[in-house]
Amino acid sequence: MSVHTQAKRISVPQLMGYKGQRKIAALTAYSAPFARLLDDALDMILIGDSTAMVGYALPDTLSITVEQMAAHAGAVVRSTSHACIIVDMPFGSYQESPQQAFSNAAGMLAASGADGIKMEGGVALADTTRFLVERGIPVLAHVGLMPQYVNTMGGFKAQGMNDESAERILRDAKAHEEAGAFAVVLEGIAEPLGRRITEALAIPTIGIGASPACDGQILVTEDILGLSGARIPKFAKQFADVGSVIRTAVEQYAQDVRDEQFPQLEHCFGVKK
Ligand code: KIV
Repeated sequence: MSVHTQAKRISVPQLMGYKGQRKIAALTAYSAPFARLLDDALDMILIGDSTAMVGYALPDTLSITVEQMAAHAGAVVRSTSHACIIVDMPFGSYQESPQQAFSNAAGMLAASGADGIKMEGGVALADTTRFLVERGIPVLAHVGLMPQYVNTMGGFKAQGMNDESAERILRDAKAHEEAGAFAVVLEGIAEPLGRRITEALAIPTIGIGASPACDGQILVTEDILGLSGARIPKFAKQFADVGSVIRTAVEQYAQDVRDEQFPQLEHCFGVKK
């Protein structure tokens, strides 16, 4: 008889149960080394399409593909055993129809082993959320500042700053809750609105530039570690300067190579003692 002692990953229903009990701590990861380091400390890891900008140095998130996202998600899933793993649906992979969304979401989950998907969109996307949830795919909704809408929004601008926009975003969040989303990301919105949506919904809200009142928080990992270049977004906080640790180590390595201090014979094969 085999005894299974391995702890199971945090599931989507578990995350939902955290509402009102404890805050959800989430970050992005795109690769195995980061995922390994993040896993035990977090409730949820998102393979964000922000990898387009952070990892591929692209100007926006619009050109990352399903295949690229699935490959990153697979690396993250294989390197973790604790956190719930959610993968972003890339631009153009779900907006056409619920059927298109289902086949791309199912393909990404099958290829990667992730636990659920995230989609950006308001009321108009709620039917797609319902279609996926009714067919077994957990959906994390994403409203407010939606980077995939950069061209219609006219830039990466905070949302919900006037009554009309705030009411629309509240309606967006409620529509996804009603359609079965397990949680909703609130990105780049006015603080009182983040608080209001959190109070209005029975599902968890996960804020990024939203409100301390949200049920959880998510940030891009590179932003909190000093790996994003010079500019940290207003909504992020740098918790460590890993960039300078890496730079110092790399400079030391280059110096040792030039000074013929590395490699030594102990780093070589077939050396007679
Ligand atoms: O792509 C991303 O990283 C996101 C955020 C919510 C962090 O969508």
